[in-house]
Amino acid sequence: MIMCDVERLYKIFRQLYHADPVIARAPGRINLIGEHTDYNNGFVLPAAIDKSVYVAVSKRSDNEIHLHAEEYNENYIADIENLHQSKFHWSGYVLGVAEQLQKRNCPLTGFNMIIDGDLPLGAGMASSAAIECAAAFAFNELFELELSKLDMVKIAQKAEQDFVGLQCGIMDMFTSIFGKKDHVICLDCRSFEYEYYPFKQDGVKIVLLDTSIKHSLASSEYNTRRRQCEEGVAIIQQHEPEVQSLRDVNMSMLNKYVAHNTIIYNRCRFVVEEIERLVDACKDLQLNDIAAFGKKMYATHTGLSKLYEVSCKELDLLVDLVRPDRSVIGARMMGGGFGGCTINIVKTDAVEELIYNTRNAYRDKTGMNLNAYVAVIGGGANIMEELMHV
Ligand code: GLA
Repeated sequence: MIMCDVERLYKIFRQLYHADPVIARAPGRINLIGEHTDYNNGFVLPAAIDKSVYVAVSKRSDNEIHLHAEEYNENYIADIENLHQSKFHWSGYVLGVAEQLQKRNCPLTGFNMIIDGDLPLGAGMASSAAIECAAAFAFNELFELELSKLDMVKIAQKAEQDFVGLQCGIMDMFTSIFGKKDHVICLDCRSFEYEYYPFKQDGVKIVLLDTSIKHSLASSEYNTRRRQCEEGVAIIQQHEPEVQSLRDVNMSMLNKYVAHNTIIYNRCRFVVEEIERLVDACKDLQLNDIAAFGKKMYATHTGLSKLYEVSCKELDLLVDLVRPDRSVIGARMMGGGFGGCTINIVKTDAVEELIYNTRNAYRDKTGMNLNAYVAVIGGGANIMEELMHV
């Protein structure tokens, strides 16, 4: 969303609710490598992008919550004293955050809110986390809660887990809030220690190819994967009591204790290998060896598809379509899986042709349209201060 669109949001808000809003922005994310490792206490290597969700919010003098989503042109009314999820609905991302704040005894009143933005929804760029983080930032400002950034990350994550029901890890929210322009974040999801690495985009671009498959199956399968990893840890713990998570597991433990259970073994093997792969990939980045990095992305895709089984035929197709192209340095499915997009590192001068060719081939094979985005690494969530006094 460009600046004047934020001003538009401000004006729509005043027309709709006759009040001056606080406006918060929270971006979507990409993840270069390290998938399904966050809830296994491993590492991830994400970055915030320059596409965001914006929420505008003001207090009401009663207990009512009035929400409006520009994208769907839909309104939703709720009661701050009686928050509940009505099936799966976009309002849950905001109400879930409000509920978490109430659980922490934060004094909330009713509020009016508009949700808007330019981040594609359900395309695997963590739009739900962006809504939650934007809401947390906006509430923090509006109700003067003085929460730290890490508090807001945890509140947004808990909202997704408890209210929406996805037992997600911390990557999406952490990235949306801690993102830094032109940098990827190497985050240790066990200690929350993190380091920013400059991501040099000279000569290459990060291209997202969107299957247009909305990952509706994702939340139940995602929760199943998480349980399967925990099952693997429980088996190993019987022999190695100091093991707390798959972060503490190596292949020899898996071969010794888990080989009899193929599904659990495959799930755990992917995660153990992926954690190791990420550590090596960070070294590639430091050495500026983008070719070695790219190979690891392909290896991640194979693991996600064959061992972790969270890909789908459209994601596999998109990776197979670009694989023979020497201007594509690395490609893989990104995020939770079962739809959404692939992330591709592509030589800059070949980007347009790649998008054109892949779009045609994808349409031929699936009959579906392919949306493509060139991701630009941007900064983390913020309050749009300058707009609060126009
Ligand atoms: C989703 C979750 C994240 C992470 C990824 C997979 O985006 O929200 O916590 O687990 O899937 O890496």
